[in-house]
Amino acid sequence: MTQDEMKIEVAKAALKYVIPDSIIGVGTGSTANFFIDELATIKERIEGAVASSVATANRLEDHGITVFDLNDVEEISVYIDGADESDKQLNLIKGGGGALTREKIVAAVSSQFVCIADESKLVSVLGDFPLPVEVIPMSTNYAKRQIVKMTGGSPILREGFTTDNGNLILDIHDLKIKDPKRLENQLNNIVGIVTNGLFAGRGADILLLGTVNGVQTITPVIEN
Ligand code: 5RP
Repeated sequence: MTQDEMKIEVAKAALKYVIPDSIIGVGTGSTANFFIDELATIKERIEGAVASSVATANRLEDHGITVFDLNDVEEISVYIDGADESDKQLNLIKGGGGALTREKIVAAVSSQFVCIADESKLVSVLGDFPLPVEVIPMSTNYAKRQIVKMTGGSPILREGFTTDNGNLILDIHDLKIKDPKRLENQLNNIVGIVTNGLFAGRGADILLLGTVNGVQTITPVIEN
């Protein structure tokens, strides 16, 4: 089974978490795109969706799915999105597509977060995938210096990329993230950082993992 076939399987499996007559949150990336295509087959069952990026809003609208502005919505029943890495506690690294800030906002508002990913994304320790950080442009070099001091990692500017919010992305390489919640909070305290791609304070509730043996449903392992 190819990686794309695994992504399609988890996209299909996620349909059973879609709550009828509600507004759902939809993430960004290739796995989320497969989910949007599946969602289109049951679009009359939902009121509509809140998108975590301009690209996702466009794809939803192309399928005739109503897209709501988050400020017009009080409740999102479920958020469905991919990830770049997940550990067994369902702490995530996200933002490979640069949509981390809007993804984090939609995830925060949602009652449940269902993450969909192929098996390559499950890791024992987060950090092999460079951790994306969204920065206000004028703070880029200050943020880089602070990140090096704080983490020992190597922040690299994502060349030629601007987020939907008009900001820049630093990708932090060479991290082994032993305490995701702590690092998430520490990075967010650096002035000029909008947010970072660690989803630990609000991780996923369920991970649907596409494997060669089918879709596994994983819930967070509670550590003693
Ligand atoms: C975008 C994201 C994506 O969820 C993440 O990059 C995974 O993407 P894909 O489904 O293409 O592997 O966080 O900002």
